[in-house]
Amino acid sequence: METTKTTLTEIATLTFKGKEYELPVTTGTEGETGIDISKLRNITGGITLDSGYANTGSCQSAITFIDGEKGILRYRGYPIEELAAKSNFVEVCYLLIFGYLPNQSVLDDFKDKLAHHSLIHEDMKKFFEGYSANAHPMGILSSMVNSLSAYYPEHDYKADVELNIIRLLAKLKTIAAFSYKKSIGQPYIYPKDDLSFTADLLNMMFAVPSEPYKVSKSVIDALDLLLILHADHEQNCSTSTVRMVGSSEANLFASISAGICALWGPLHGGANQKVITMLEKILGDGGDYKKYIGLAKDKESKFKMMGFGHRVYKNFDPRATILKEAADRVLKELGVNDPLLDIAKNLEEIALKDEFFVERKLYPNVDFYSGIIYRAMGIPTNMFTVMFALGRLPGWIAQWKEMREAPGARIYRPRQIYIGEQRRPYVPIDER
Ligand code: CMC
Repeated sequence: METTKTTLTEIATLTFKGKEYELPVTTGTEGETGIDISKLRNITGGITLDSGYANTGSCQSAITFIDGEKGILRYRGYPIEELAAKSNFVEVCYLLIFGYLPNQSVLDDFKDKLAHHSLIHEDMKKFFEGYSANAHPMGILSSMVNSLSAYYPEHDYKADVELNIIRLLAKLKTIAAFSYKKSIGQPYIYPKDDLSFTADLLNMMFAVPSEPYKVSKSVIDALDLLLILHADHEQNCSTSTVRMVGSSEANLFASISAGICALWGPLHGGANQKVITMLEKILGDGGDYKKYIGLAKDKESKFKMMGFGHRVYKNFDPRATILKEAADRVLKELGVNDPLLDIAKNLEEIALKDEFFVERKLYPNVDFYSGIIYRAMGIPTNMFTVMFALGRLPGWIAQWKEMREAPGARIYRPRQIYIGEQRRPYVPIDER
């Protein structure tokens, strides 16, 4: 078991097959409780069954706190609203991974290291050439991150971990930008050490060798905000995947590569791309958003309101609140008038009053407004989930590191209830 500041407060009693069992209850620093069933199978012979792990705590963690009922999100104790207003992405990376806000000299040193390690091995450029121009950048991103393990193998966890973390943080944006350049047939733009982390990413994506390019401050600030808001979200699907893979002591690059694949799905990070597709469809259909509210409520239609609903938030997603306000500001600053923003706002307004959505506590999530901001910044739709991955990287790394360094960490290995055929004899092929 991982140890953090939790206390054993009480005992839960379970009655099963006529016997009573006492199970310890663990309370976290914010008062949330977990019934510790780690000995359950040994003492009762039974296991728990929890579809989608909605009631299962897989670890104890000191990184991110969420109270879904109250719409609270904090990284290492700091409220997301404060970090969004006062911090920057590189500082948030440091905070998540190392657990504290760095002073100026520590932060400067961290930034220097990130700048120093941002180039990728020249041979890796050949990998990009092998992909077709319409390959999805998430597939490329995941493969490239896994490929880093071939260049920077983990021989010894303690000796290699810190440098490999820096390498991954520094190189992911180069890989992301190169995969974009490949998809549009433009030459790769190398990283520049004198630009800030976010400005460098934008420069690598949008500059061309033939013309001067100046990154706009509004765009840098907007991207920094988006990356901060995505930086961690405790045990979501991709983070649990990173921990799951890492629990076998697979190296950092392999574990994060698996997380990128998990994020790609439309129910998770892939939703930001799907929100725009949905809003474009509504616009193309004459902007009749009420019709789509009706479709979302009709189970037969198989239509889902993308960017709505969340496993944890049951009141509001604080990231969506920040982004809704930011969408207005950023589009104004950039002089962009996007009809999709009006459709999104109308959908939200109606849904928030509609019984179907209210009953099920369905609210806009982080993906609902993020795509509209990415669009205004000129980022193509198929790169949205890549931007999410860039933001989530420090969270994945922090969670992976916490898992690897937890005393008594064990391989993740859930059980199952088997519902297949019972034992039966093999049937030779001519008798089937
Ligand atoms: N549109 C219409 N109905 C919905 C939606 C939606 N977006 N989301 C949930 N529901 C309904 C669902 O059909 C179910 O209804 P009923 O109780 O009648 O069967 C009820 O609400 C509960 O939903 P659930 O599927 O049991 O909820 P979940 O916790 O398993 O899934 C979710 C959460 C985010 C996958 C889901 O809400 C969803 O598919 N949303 C759309 C995709 C999306 O925006 N994903 C991004 C999530 S935020 C970014 C991230 O961290 O990944």
